[in-house]
Amino acid sequence: MVIVKDERMSRMRTYLMCPPERFEVAYAINPWMDTSAPVDAELALKQWQLLRETLTGLGHTVHVLPAEDGLPDMVYAANGGFTVDGVAFGARFRYPQRAAEAAAHRAFYDQHGWPYVEPTEINEGEGDFAYLPDAYGGMILAGHGFRTESVAHSHAQEALGRPVISLQLVDPRFYHLDVALAALDDKTITYYPGAFSAGSQRVLAQLFPDALIADEADALAFGLNLVSDGRNVVFNAEATGLGGKLAAAGYTPVPVELSELKKGGGSVKCCVAELRLSPASPAR
Ligand code: ARG
Repeated sequence: MVIVKDERMSRMRTYLMCPPERFEVAYAINPWMDTSAPVDAELALKQWQLLRETLTGLGHTVHVLPAEDGLPDMVYAANGGFTVDGVAFGARFRYPQRAAEAAAHRAFYDQHGWPYVEPTEINEGEGDFAYLPDAYGGMILAGHGFRTESVAHSHAQEALGRPVISLQLVDPRFYHLDVALAALDDKTITYYPGAFSAGSQRVLAQLFPDALIADEADALAFGLNLVSDGRNVVFNAEATGLGGKLAAAGYTPVPVELSELKKGGGSVKCCVAELRLSPASPAR
């Protein structure tokens, strides 16, 4: 019998990124940020440019949101909103240092004619929300515990009309969902169980029995903070162990260096928001 490995299919994506032109570690709002450790601003920008070129090189479209003065974390564009079927669910940041980023993202969505849902509760966009269009007819996974308030999960469910599964994060090193869990394709996830409460681990195991299970080393290397198009998985080069697991599962690992942006507590996914248009919405 010949065993044929699953052929992984990529799907063209549209992303939003913001250059680290104002990036620095000026304050510490997560355990990775050390204000006394120097950041190489030039290298940060080079690494970011390479990430953008990697995504465009794979055929994806990348929109760029201009960096703004006084917002050093704006490079982590994933936190500025969460889009499903052409609707943008706006972000509301936990810490005042990042609060003004929400308006910059809103302006982008307004300019492009996206319906925008004003958030009433704290939520940090794709930092804490993931969408699996082909899991159970379209399912949202949402994290709470450090940043996003769980009441924002039910608000997102009402606004976006998709079931939202609330997951509790329990390890401060993995303060956002997107450093502990990622969508590898439209129905498959990878995650590090230790980042979640016991109950949430059981929920994930029940819903995603085929998930690729990552270990603590993968998560600590920011390997789970990845962007996948269904086939090509762009992830932090330091997560060498995860690279092997991805390849064994039939994905194409695409490692990128993001050492400088890791100093702010983020990697690939944090820098890349996915813009999900509905098939029914007008062409843009
Ligand atoms: N310094 C930023 C913060 O703590 C990093 C955000 C990382 N973004 C992410 N999507 N996990 O808010």
